Amino acid sequence: MKRNCFFYRKKKYSIGQNGVVTRKSHSNIALIKYWGKHKNKIQIPLNSSISYSLGGVYTVTRLIYYLREKKKRNLSIKVFLSGKEKTSFIPKILEFFHRISFYCSYLRDFNFIIKTYNTFPHSSGIASSASSMSALALCIMEIEKKLVSSLKEDFFLKKASFLARLGSGSACRSIYPGLVVWGCHQSIKGSNDLYAIPYPYKVHSIFTKMVNTILIIDEEPKKILSSKGHQLMNNHPYARERLKCANKNMDRLISILKIGDFQEFGELIEHEALTLHAMIMTSRPYFLWMKPNTLNVLYTVWDFRIQSKKNIYFTLDAGANVHLLYPIQEKKIILKWIYSDLFSYCKKIIESFCY
Ligand code: DP6
Repeated sequence: MKRNCFFYRKKKYSIGQNGVVTRKSHSNIALIKYWGKHKNKIQIPLNSSISYSLGGVYTVTRLIYYLREKKKRNLSIKVFLSGKEKTSFIPKILEFFHRISFYCSYLRDFNFIIKTYNTFPHSSGIASSASSMSALALCIMEIEKKLVSSLKEDFFLKKASFLARLGSGSACRSIYPGLVVWGCHQSIKGSNDLYAIPYPYKVHSIFTKMVNTILIIDEEPKKILSSKGHQLMNNHPYARERLKCANKNMDRLISILKIGDFQEFGELIEHEALTLHAMIMTSRPYFLWMKPNTLNVLYTVWDFRIQSKKNIYFTLDAGANVHLLYPIQEKKIILKWIYSDLFSYCKKIIESFCY
């Protein structure tokens, strides 16, 4: 594995005492989707992605660290979600600690207890890996801050994003509010594959105050995890075209965000969402994330949009749930319509916003 020395922290740093750090981090929803990773590289995306961070939908994590006994060098981690011990989370977290130990060698001195909770219902079907991995990465950087008093805020956030990426790709975007880009794109200055950056260009005011209403269609855990889905891109017959399309969509989005064309924006995000689903539907093995009620919602939104001429568009994650995006100015009317016409298709509705 090629290592990045910019984020390397030498062993000479040692805290030598126990402590506790706490951080919160928001979930995010991608407009241009990260789908596929480079083979034989760790968490390097095939294409650049951009997301909105989501207000009101976050994870709070408390990381308790205590010195390891000299003789017992093996790392011990305990994880509690909303007060309940979760041994099933441990393998993923151990792998994460293993991946980042080169960059955070001070972690080798400690054992850990992780106490975490999400503000969104646990069984809501919303992916929590973005908010939980980014909250954990921020906690680790809080420990580093205790070691290195001169640590600059800019470095703190960059490294937090770099570490979060090694836990879960989409998590690296959750470090920043607003529109966030991850993955190298020729038209976006500073964009790179190692960590996310705040979107650096002009954004029309219509896109700065957006509502995101999440329709929970299915509360069951996904049958196919996104990490497995990414792998299926490696031998996917349409992968090359998908990557070209994602790159073009990023260029289009840059100009849409500048001029403030909501209709163009909406068509682009719906196309991206359906392309993501098309990729998984045409993988080998193939999968279908949508449920009948996902389709019911999409058709109802399209009908409503034609009749009302309102700016309401959807995007989808790697699952059956639907995210509806619309400008805050339209919130009152649209939210009323969502509860009257879409509620029957949903298990739950979560109100959030792009902040
Ligand atoms: C469809 O970040 O969950 O949500 O890096 O394997 O943890 P890992 O994958 P993950 O993939 C997210 C995929 C997506 C699109 C996106 O958020 O960009």
